[in-house]
Amino acid sequence: MARHCKDHYRALRPHGKTHKCPEIAKAIIRAGAVGACTAKLSEAEVFARDGVTGILITTAVIGRHKIERAVRLAAAHSDTIFCVDDAQNVRDLNDAAAAARIHLNLAIDLFVGTRTGIEPGDPAVALAQLIDSLPSVKFAGIQAYAGQASHTSGFAERRRHSREAMAPAVETRCALEGKGIACPLLTGASTGTYNIDCEIDGVSELQPGSFIFMDVDYNRIGGQDGPVYRDFRNALTVLTTVVSKPTKSGAVVDGGFKAFATDRPFMPEVKSISGIVYNWGGDEHGILNLAQASAAVNLGDRLEFIVPHCDPSVNLYDRMYCLRGDNVEAVWQIAARGMGQ
Ligand SMILES: Cc1ncc(COP(=O)(O)O)c(C=O)c1O
Repeated sequence: MARHCKDHYRALRPHGKTHKCPEIAKAIIRAGAVGACTAKLSEAEVFARDGVTGILITTAVIGRHKIERAVRLAAAHSDTIFCVDDAQNVRDLNDAAAAARIHLNLAIDLFVGTRTGIEPGDPAVALAQLIDSLPSVKFAGIQAYAGQASHTSGFAERRRHSREAMAPAVETRCALEGKGIACPLLTGASTGTYNIDCEIDGVSELQPGSFIFMDVDYNRIGGQDGPVYRDFRNALTVLTTVVSKPTKSGAVVDGGFKAFATDRPFMPEVKSISGIVYNWGGDEHGILNLAQASAAVNLGDRLEFIVPHCDPSVNLYDRMYCLRGDNVEAVWQIAARGMGQ
């Protein structure tokens, strides 16, 4: 991903909501990223404490107590960027920054069809003008995250969807510059659209997250070369043990609802043996149908499962084990696990 961004003259600020792990954020910065995104202020506090620089918090910081925390964070880490989509919130941030005698960098979160943000065009321009007029906030640019495009099936349709969603963001950037407001940043994109949005003039930065691990969900969206999306390899698995073999063609592993996020309708997939069908066996277990398995499965075997959806699955664990072959080379804390506010 870092090489792709470099080749396309785009900055990379990958989303840390996927891994919640400062070690990974810092590794991607060493590979060329300008920083890391976090979804929430609490994630950003953990990342900053552990040495991650160039943090962009992609959700607005709302409420007096959080604004106080945001100011403390920015006082110690002046390159932090906060997203805003509301005029009163901008004034509150400005007042808090003024009281602390610091400046806050603010990016306007644009609504491009997903969930948060201010409408593109005039409303966004007016918000940027407000930021520009206040003494203790600095206008950093625009965030436009078109999440609905990221999982659109089929490359051509995904491309059409993303280009359509991002057009108003590019127009807003031009409108701002037409009014004399410099807009150095237009950040957006996802794992599904990284190679689409980098073709859009005006998008200056990509903020994909899931590419670092991948999951069953992303594998299904289809790539440029066929029905399976394989631009990035599956790097994240949950390791289970076969704890029972009640029948010849059945086995039970010790990973159930508590081992995988269950927000997606489909099942975890075994990494190295094909043909195994996983069925939920309750909180603690998964029931395997081995009738079509490509290899024998015995009691005590370790089976690695690719998770249905990486972000919420990672959030179930305190640490991850980093393997090269069968050797554990490092154990990394998922330090921002549970940081949901
Ligand atoms: C604001 C924002 N940017 C970027 C991403 C990264 O998307 P993906 O994990 O699909 O690459 C997300 C994911 O939800 C997001 O919410």
